[in-house]
Amino acid sequence: MRTDTGRIIHLADYRPTDFVLERVDLTFELDPTETKVEARLIFHRREGADPSAPLVLDGDDLNMTGLMFDQVELAAERYTATPESLTIRDLPETAPFEITVTTQINPEANTQLMGLYRSNGIYCTQCEAEGFRRITYFPDRPDVLAVYTVNIIADKDTNPLLLSNGNFLGGAGYGPGKHFAAWFDPHPKPSYLFALVAGDLGVVEDTFTTMSGREVALKIYVEHGKEARAAYAMDALKRSMKWDEEVFGREYDLDIFMIVAVSDFNMGAMENKGLNIFNDKYVLADPETATDQDYANIEAIIAHEYFHNWTGNRITCRDWFQLCLKEGLTVYRDHEFSADQRSRPVKRIAEVRHLRSEQFPEDAGPLAHPVRPTAYREINNFYTTTVYEKGSEVTRMIATILGRDGFKKGMDLYFERHDGEAATVEDFVKSFEDANGRDLKQFSLWYNQAGTPQITVSSSYDAAAKTLTLSLEQMIPATPGQSNKEPMHIPLRFALIGANGGEQAPTSVTGGEVSGDVLHLTERSQTVVFSGIASRPVVSLNRSFSAPVTLHFSQTTDDLALIARFETDLFSRWQAITDLALPNLTAAAGAAAKGKPISCDKGLLDALLAIAADESLEPAFRAQALTLPSESDIARELGSNNDPDAIHAGRQGILKEIAVAGAATFEALYKGLVSDAAYSPDAASAGRRSLRNAALGFLALSENTPVAAAEAFAKADNMTDLSQALTVLAHRFPDSPETHAALASFETRFASNALVLDKWFQIQATIPGDGSLDRIMRLMQSPNFIASNPNRVRALIGTFAFGNPTGFNRADGTAYRFFAEQVLAIDKRNPQLAARLLTAMRSWRLLEPTRADHAREALMTIERSASLSNDVRDIVDRTLK
Ligand code: PHE
Ligand code: ZN
Repeated sequence: MRTDTGRIIHLADYRPTDFVLERVDLTFELDPTETKVEARLIFHRREGADPSAPLVLDGDDLNMTGLMFDQVELAAERYTATPESLTIRDLPETAPFEITVTTQINPEANTQLMGLYRSNGIYCTQCEAEGFRRITYFPDRPDVLAVYTVNIIADKDTNPLLLSNGNFLGGAGYGPGKHFAAWFDPHPKPSYLFALVAGDLGVVEDTFTTMSGREVALKIYVEHGKEARAAYAMDALKRSMKWDEEVFGREYDLDIFMIVAVSDFNMGAMENKGLNIFNDKYVLADPETATDQDYANIEAIIAHEYFHNWTGNRITCRDWFQLCLKEGLTVYRDHEFSADQRSRPVKRIAEVRHLRSEQFPEDAGPLAHPVRPTAYREINNFYTTTVYEKGSEVTRMIATILGRDGFKKGMDLYFERHDGEAATVEDFVKSFEDANGRDLKQFSLWYNQAGTPQITVSSSYDAAAKTLTLSLEQMIPATPGQSNKEPMHIPLRFALIGANGGEQAPTSVTGGEVSGDVLHLTERSQTVVFSGIASRPVVSLNRSFSAPVTLHFSQTTDDLALIARFETDLFSRWQAITDLALPNLTAAAGAAAKGKPISCDKGLLDALLAIAADESLEPAFRAQALTLPSESDIARELGSNNDPDAIHAGRQGILKEIAVAGAATFEALYKGLVSDAAYSPDAASAGRRSLRNAALGFLALSENTPVAAAEAFAKADNMTDLSQALTVLAHRFPDSPETHAALASFETRFASNALVLDKWFQIQATIPGDGSLDRIMRLMQSPNFIASNPNRVRALIGTFAFGNPTGFNRADGTAYRFFAEQVLAIDKRNPQLAARLLTAMRSWRLLEPTRADHAREALMTIERSASLSNDVRDIVDRTLK
């Protein structure tokens, strides 16, 4: 375990290495517990570097068994080796030299899943961010790019497959029972993109012909017997390759592209050059076992990792502070891909929901950091929604400001200038500036200032002058280490909508730059006057969520209802519904806290039911409109002193009113949207299922028996409907015999499918109420709870902490104490997983005082623990600060 040194790394301290790495030759002799790694590294001293500087290589928990300099054993006085570093002195001033290091590692004992480990008998690696140093001593930083040759030797019977990055060079027998394979990757890469896989796996094969006519072999490796479940991933891969050619002009650059699915993985997937390694959850799917959401996730993540080949691999990051350079950009690319493959507005709504529920709380709490941080103690803790999702939004704003063509020109220049390099955020922004002749200096503050901008807006219409005046003010809240913020450049798309629903175009605008439908807010406060507006318009602001901000714009119910009815931007229609719903939900929480009756505005009911029944709208959109803001959305709206029980009760009360008022509509939807066609995961079919299942949820609320839900469970012929019906049963009727029977039959039917069992755990982990904790503890005793499997731990403990507000925030604090014990136990085997789970407590200060005290106590138990990983130490310290 990487122990805590308290050391903070600063962006300002960046400097290049003293030595340039020319070539890397690796030889692995694989063994479950005693793998031998020989690394031959050719270096030369960088021009201008200190001629007496030693070579310092990174290590983590390493055991060195040999060290040679130019093929000769190195004298002990010339080096110092510890598990964490190798320092070699008295090196040539200019001549290249070769260092050969041998280490011995134990993949079987590697429970952190960083470096080389074994998952279900498969050897695999995970090197981002700093896992390569757990394999051999190395300048393990992203600005050290080299060409790699990799030789793998292993038992032939158990490891018929030997894979690494790049192109296959050849292989042969290697003594009794063994064989070897050699791989060569011609593209210089940093160590975090290295990968090796060995074992016995099934394969799905296909080919892709690139735009210049080269044929690329595509291979997806999965456990034997699961090949059929990789078909959708293969299809998504081919569509991704095509899309990147068409939209970004990017062609694949090796003869082979491989994906390997493993069942123990800390993250979603990893973009290793030519050899992506995936959490099998994002590869395997068939109608019987995967939901529509699973299919959509697979499509998005396959695309994401593939897109990294250009944004991340061909152009990588100079240092880990630049992480958003590859992640924010690549998320933007996968969002655009999914929008093109599916419904753009529905995709946008889902993205914004995710951003608001995950990134906004991060940005408003103790873990807030800029999209490009300037200091870190543990880089693993910076793979955050801020770097990824807000980073994507920042890229999207560049596209909004420059327009489609301007954005394309900037991207092309970026690829042209920096291909083969380790670049910075400045390089990226400069490409857009230079390609468009536009100054993005103020815009760059988005990379440096944390916190979600709060924009206060008011509007007034002057009928005599025919002008509309918009007054806007921006405020960026203080965040850890940043108290005073500069005003930012915020591009707000807008529309002025007339009473009949038509858009009104101004004859002229003063008070700020307006180009097309984009209003550029750049001052702390700004007054924009639109002239030539014939009648009072309704202002629709931040269309398509053009900027990741919170708007404070008190619009009347009538105005919001008009937007909900007439906006041509479907995102804004959904937003108007949300804006109509939120005050009802917060008022309901207040009423519930005081034991008063809950009531829902008729305006909201009418708008919702009209959308639900509107056949001219796509079903997926209608389902989104019917999915009201979540309990955590309501908590965020309330701000502080939160009582999760009251929020839950209030929200349920509103849902019940909608269910009763709309019973006939929901009945009609539920009956009318049955499909006899064979299951297809396409977006339109998925949309119909989501609307039908939303209707089922409302029906279960207005009915007092589980009969309808039990029947839906019995009749379901695909995993989407089955898991939805089970969720409705378990959440609405947790103690009914029907629910017990359904849970038992689901468990038996899918006993051999880990990914489906994860759903079984998840559904139960989110059953609300005080009984949750006992249920979680009971489920942990189940033989199916496997503590070494990150997916399983996340499904049960993670889902409970992140997705069950009433259960997790029990007023007596027992769930926090339980959670602290779990985090400490998990930290012993897998610090990254433990640290990520612990971020579930980041909003503890917004709870009412009794719960907040209990939460602080639980956090302090963790903080007082004598042996914490660097990962958990970093999160707990920042969370308590
Ligand atoms: N780079 C991976 C991605 O976003 C995420 C990842 C980070 C995976 C660190 C493993 C470890 O595509
Ligand atoms: Zn990524």
